[in-house]
Amino acid sequence: MDKFVIEGPTPLKGTIPISGSKNAALPLMATAILGDSPTTITNVPKLRDVYTFNNVIRVTGTHVDFNEEEATLTIDPKHLSHLEAPYELVRKMRASFYMLGALVGKFGQAKVSLPGGCAWGPRPVDLHLDGMREMGVDIELDQGYVIASAPKQMKGGTFKLEPSSVGATINLVLASVLRAEEFTIKNAAREPDAVLLCETLSEMGANIEGIGTDTLTIRGVDSLSGIEVRNASDRIETGTFMIAAAMHPESDVTITNADVDDLGHFPETFRKTGVDMTIEDSTIHIKAPDTINPTSIKTKVYPGFPTDLQAQWSTMMTQAEGSCSVTDTIYDDRFSYVPEVTRLGADMDVEQNTVHIKGKTPLKGASVMSTDLRASVSLVLAGMVAKGTTDVLRIYHLDRGYEDLEQKLRNVGANIKRVDQDA
Ligand code: EPZ
Repeated sequence: MDKFVIEGPTPLKGTIPISGSKNAALPLMATAILGDSPTTITNVPKLRDVYTFNNVIRVTGTHVDFNEEEATLTIDPKHLSHLEAPYELVRKMRASFYMLGALVGKFGQAKVSLPGGCAWGPRPVDLHLDGMREMGVDIELDQGYVIASAPKQMKGGTFKLEPSSVGATINLVLASVLRAEEFTIKNAAREPDAVLLCETLSEMGANIEGIGTDTLTIRGVDSLSGIEVRNASDRIETGTFMIAAAMHPESDVTITNADVDDLGHFPETFRKTGVDMTIEDSTIHIKAPDTINPTSIKTKVYPGFPTDLQAQWSTMMTQAEGSCSVTDTIYDDRFSYVPEVTRLGADMDVEQNTVHIKGKTPLKGASVMSTDLRASVSLVLAGMVAKGTTDVLRIYHLDRGYEDLEQKLRNVGANIKRVDQDA
């Protein structure tokens, strides 16, 4: 099992390119199953979750070819015959659950494992299943599997997501585009990942009204054709490196290949910390402030503050001059990073779904444990400003969602290396 060994503190100076989005690529991969011909997705990142999903899709008999050098995935559903997504793969990655919508949508049948929980607690799929039932899909649960069947022409209906859900929006769109007479999703997710999915399906021939709004109306069509589509840049990777660039007062970083619009209101909140930031098309230039203004945030659905940047923001706020609070309104227990960052010397106190942070606390290197993807990257951010050596253990969590992380950080001066922690 690998760990990162980080020597700090180091300023970051230079250019960081953003890779393709994990959370936009995964739904696009599921969408390829709905096409009657091959789909090619470009700008696909080399991430564990992409490899895992490739294997989930291959189980069905679909041909998946990942040209890593060109970051291009080609998916040909011609030989798809096995309408199943097994537990041993689905448990590795929750987004595998998109196979339910894709297989039911295309073939009217699916046997898909319920996803497991994750490091920060249960992650239900009741909205996915209730929405499909409303649409006309017959859903049975049997020994941890969802057994679904749907007629060629479902009546459709209307379903309101409470709370709004990215995954449920995606799954319900996948299930309905070829099969529902008319299905309306209220309080649908407006996250860029869901919008790109709907735009892509429209290009493939789907009939979807309201794309980009919180009300989607899908009218089933007979068939969809494969497509070539460019995956978005990773908005959470972008926000993560923006925060990294602000944490050491001498840092001066240029971020390239960013899709800034996908960050919603994040840039204006980020500016409140006192960073000197200029944005030009897909390039963001950040000079760190001498002192960081404590800036309280509450996570919200898009275009509000993304929950996937909550841990990184809290870690940055340990270096702010003063106190602030970070509230997660999307997940109420996504704070597994707090005890680890506290081991480095932070003063953080969790109360229900809010962490109260007292800055500025000098951080001192120590061994810390990754627990989930975004918590792990926060430990790397902390290690780069902590004095001394920080070992970040179990970085397989990081490999799920950050392409070439240590290389990108080394290229801008970080002292970070990947080591086999059992060596
Ligand atoms: C997606 O997860 C992302 N994952 C998550 O990013 C992200 O944190 C999340 O959206 C919120 O933005 C991918 O895109 C692969 P949700 P998803 O359904 O779809 C509740 C990362 O770090 N809910 O929008 O699973 C749920 O418990 C990952 O890249 C139900 O109650 O999230 C949560 O409180 C982590 N019932 C809220 O909705 C349901 O059936 C939002 O979850 C579904 C969700």
